[in-house]
Amino acid sequence: MSKEHKQNENNKHKPHSADYFVESRNHWWNQDFLALMAKRWDLSKVNSIVDVGCGIGHWGRTLEPYLNKTCSLIGVDREAEWVEKATEEAHQKGLHPRFSYVKGDTYQLPFESNSVDMVTCQTVLMHLGDPLKAIEEMKRILKPGGLIAVVEPNILCQSLIFDSLTAQEPMDDLIRSLSFYLKCGKGKQVLGEGFDACGDLVPGYFGKAGLKNIAVYISDKTWPWIPPYETEQEQLILKEWEEMRTKDRVHGAWEDETTKRYFIAGGGKEEEFEFYQGFFKESYQKHWDATEAGELDFAGGNLVYLVSGRKGE
Ligand SMILES: C[S@@+](CC[C@H](N)C(=O)[O-])C[C@H]1O[C@@H](n2cnc3c(N)ncnc32)[C@H](O)[C@@H]1O
Repeated sequence: MSKEHKQNENNKHKPHSADYFVESRNHWWNQDFLALMAKRWDLSKVNSIVDVGCGIGHWGRTLEPYLNKTCSLIGVDREAEWVEKATEEAHQKGLHPRFSYVKGDTYQLPFESNSVDMVTCQTVLMHLGDPLKAIEEMKRILKPGGLIAVVEPNILCQSLIFDSLTAQEPMDDLIRSLSFYLKCGKGKQVLGEGFDACGDLVPGYFGKAGLKNIAVYISDKTWPWIPPYETEQEQLILKEWEEMRTKDRVHGAWEDETTKRYFIAGGGKEEEFEFYQGFFKESYQKHWDATEAGELDFAGGNLVYLVSGRKGE
């Protein structure tokens, strides 16, 4: 059993990524950019897709408008709850049986070798201890000449994306906050639970896996925050931010216990963690107050790579 699976086993009540399947996930892409990617990837020629680590099916459904209507997609996830939810969504959206979902593990996909036209995943490799092994397994099930296309970010660089408040903060506070995020990221990595800057490394893994025609792009999606925050996207984020506030966490992405485990594994000290709890609480409150006063703004840049390659003929 992999380390990251063991971790999940310990945390029985909560399936992997439960906090991330929020409504704004449906707004992750600009449609005209996806149309361009569909052209670059030649999606109209694809008749069978496996969506690895599909969660509740967001990525496959996002690609659907750009697919040939005879193309079928099978999503695979190790969480039974997500497989069930993705299947339910496919029924509700009239995509079943063209879109179906099965339980399975990234490292051992339940498909024959050389059997599918395309294998894809979105924000999955970043949660794995051995992304290269997963890519090799994805390659195994591809037909010769088949396409592998993955979407993975570097979210560690988010700590250097400024807003109108952090731009005014003393340098020491910025360094403190950066040090915290980098230590958590390093801790997650050394514990074998994934790497939040995984996207930076994916093209190299593709090369090691012997994939051909490797191409790397960046999503053009940003999350601007401009008073009075009236766009549909801003309203949605505002709603999710309000919900997140009720969870009272040091770090938005993880529960405090996990954050502390990562921080310490990444070289942080227990007593520093206590300090950071107060530090971030104050910072979040300031950001909230500035939003309520209509004074917070930012461009909302984020680094999301789309990396593709082909299995040799
Ligand atoms: C951040 S979510 C991404 C879900 C989906 N790709 C999307 O973009 O909406 C990561 C998903 O990977 C799944 N996952 C993590 N490790 C896995 C593994 N070893 N095998 C199969 N699925 C895995 C999790 O259960 C979770 O659903």
